[in-house]
Amino acid sequence: MELQTHLEESLSKFPQIQLCVDSSPVQDLTNLKSKWGLGFELSIKRDDLIGPAFGGNKSRQLEFLLGEAIQLGADCIVHGGAVQSNYGRQVAAACAMLDLDCYLVLSDYYKQKQNTGSHLILQMLGAKISYFHGELGTNHEFEKLQLSKSLAALGRKPYLITYPKSEILGSLGYLKATLELSHQLPAEKFPERIVMPAVGATYIGVLLGLKLLGYKDVEVIGVAPLLNEYPIQATVLDSIKMICTLLKIDFDAIDSPKLDLNFSFVGEGYSKTTNESLDALVDFARYEGVMLDPVYTSKAAASLRKLPSDGKRTLFWHTGGSPAVFAYSDEILNHLKN
Ligand SMILES: Cc1ncc(COP(=O)(O)O)c(C=O)c1O
Repeated sequence: MELQTHLEESLSKFPQIQLCVDSSPVQDLTNLKSKWGLGFELSIKRDDLIGPAFGGNKSRQLEFLLGEAIQLGADCIVHGGAVQSNYGRQVAAACAMLDLDCYLVLSDYYKQKQNTGSHLILQMLGAKISYFHGELGTNHEFEKLQLSKSLAALGRKPYLITYPKSEILGSLGYLKATLELSHQLPAEKFPERIVMPAVGATYIGVLLGLKLLGYKDVEVIGVAPLLNEYPIQATVLDSIKMICTLLKIDFDAIDSPKLDLNFSFVGEGYSKTTNESLDALVDFARYEGVMLDPVYTSKAAASLRKLPSDGKRTLFWHTGGSPAVFAYSDEILNHLKN
């Protein structure tokens, strides 16, 4: 309890806005466990049900990032991602709620559909979009910076969401989510293993949050949706150190969190579905009525089938992204035919 209060107090010092419902449900996945023949208990944390405009993990992060933006007097937000960006959709929704202009630099390199899914929604939300033709990564971030500078030169007050701020402030949203989980589940039901998609802030927040709350032995397996675009391994530990500094926690005094990153389910690369990920996407729908997404959560979900039958209470953390199923209708329908 002391550890919970301590973390609660540390987080309450940061400016925040409310975008999410108070707590996302945890549900048992008993049908899937039996259909897949899993040798462990499986539950799901439904972060697909939080936040505006179909929500997802980024809404938790934006509570802190946009809290800071408002405190700094920003009048517009600059961010970006791929054409079907979940982050773009959620930031555009938050901006609509806060009456801020939302500028998005979207990479069309991945040839994702533009007339449906998150891209349709973020246009409906009024985002001001410019397209970038290269991959996500350093050059794309540079383009966002340039846009932010040009808005400032016009007298606007842009708030740019980029590394490392995106990871550091963003992960506070997931430190808060671990507190939520600790209030939701008693020790005897608390997961012994968590499986989730991993790029940055979400995984970092869960990994560090559990550490700070004293859940030392919970395995946190992050399943990567990309290979080279973003150096996940290198940024996770750096970010954790920076968050510790921000929260005035002595990094050396906590056991170094154990990174458990799995790159085996990426397939051909970011945004490309695999046979296993499409199987998982369809099975979650058919056996549990849960919509995963084709880019992140279905790859993480596919990894569940390869876990050992060790009886460990396992929680799958659904991070959202489901509107992307509409943008992958061809792949999904082909998969259903075969
Ligand atoms: C559905 C979904 N899951 C997971 C992630 C990864 O989130 P993070 O970068 O915070 O780890 C993203 C990132 O955009 C996402 O859209």
